[in-house]
Amino acid sequence: MLRKCLEDIAPYSPGKPIDEVKRELGLEEVYKLASNENPLGPPESAVEAMKLAAGKVSLYPDADAFELKSALAKFHDVKRSQIILGDGSNELLKLLSLAFLNPGDEIIMPKPSFGEYSRTAKLCDASVKAIPLTEDYVIDLPAMVAAISSKTKIVYICNPNNPTGTVVDKQLLKQMMHRMKDIIVVLDEAYFEFVQDENSPDGVAFFKEFPNVVSLRTFSKAYGLAGLRVGYGICHEEIVAAINKVREPFNVNSLAQVAAIAALNDGEYLEKSIRHNAVERDFLYNELKKRGFQVVPAEANFMLVDVVRDSVEVFQGLLKKGIIVRSADIFGYPTKIRLSVGLHKENEAFLKALEEYMGI
Ligand SMILES: Cc1ncc(COP(=O)(O)O)c(C=O)c1O
Repeated sequence: MLRKCLEDIAPYSPGKPIDEVKRELGLEEVYKLASNENPLGPPESAVEAMKLAAGKVSLYPDADAFELKSALAKFHDVKRSQIILGDGSNELLKLLSLAFLNPGDEIIMPKPSFGEYSRTAKLCDASVKAIPLTEDYVIDLPAMVAAISSKTKIVYICNPNNPTGTVVDKQLLKQMMHRMKDIIVVLDEAYFEFVQDENSPDGVAFFKEFPNVVSLRTFSKAYGLAGLRVGYGICHEEIVAAINKVREPFNVNSLAQVAAIAALNDGEYLEKSIRHNAVERDFLYNELKKRGFQVVPAEANFMLVDVVRDSVEVFQGLLKKGIIVRSADIFGYPTKIRLSVGLHKENEAFLKALEEYMGI
């Protein structure tokens, strides 16, 4: 009964939920540094906006999200018609695949990177060319471009890349654009707001210069609204129109819409969130280096740490101490963990647990 293409697809495996770990291990205090969430909690402004809107949830949401799209259009200086919203940016990856990939078409993605590019392509019976990163853990743009064939429809550039946290160079990307003219170039910028490297590209600026670029952003990370599921794409009207054909009409619920507007207008929260991440990312990086660990310098709110041992075992060892991280084994790094930046006390607790576990 099952479609053939599903045989090769594994369901998404999320980070372990805090309550599950508490229940299973009988722990009272558990810190999750596994899913690249915002440790500051949601913006108060967004919570207040949802309280006000809660009394209206008997009505369907605005299917076209007029207010949210208007706010985003103003924020990015683009047209409302160049914005598409998703149930998280994750949904937009699926919608892009559904709208553009026929069986036999091909996507090109970095390896390792966010698994949803390949999962959603395979759902459409498309094939996946996964191009290894450079030795510095950076997306190899020339190699990706060299891999383009007549079947290639979409090239995914995850910037910063998950799980490495590294960014591509905007000049190099610009040079490569003329070789990707007939292809949709998706810049997945889920962690865009955290980037400090000025040589990293801004996908929205790229879209303004190259109409085949799709910039994907999200309210899940720097804006602290992961549980609400709001992501958006900025792209050409024709791509928006295509995605609208496969989109479920009410894919962004009414509370998510008002919360996203409030968060977008809450510059203070965003600034705090970016500052916190920069400070704590440096703290973790320096403390880990001091203890002799190799860490990939990251521009996102997570980092890859080489724990030198089997990282699945390290994951389990830390779990018993109430710290949830992610083994990077699934990304092809058997001795690395992916660590999300937490609150200062969570980061300290992680360092202490790691020291205890490793006996250092
Ligand atoms: C690279 C990347 N893209 C997209 C997403 C999806 O984010 P969301 O669906 O919450 O917007 C994530 C989530 O972790 C991610 O790491």
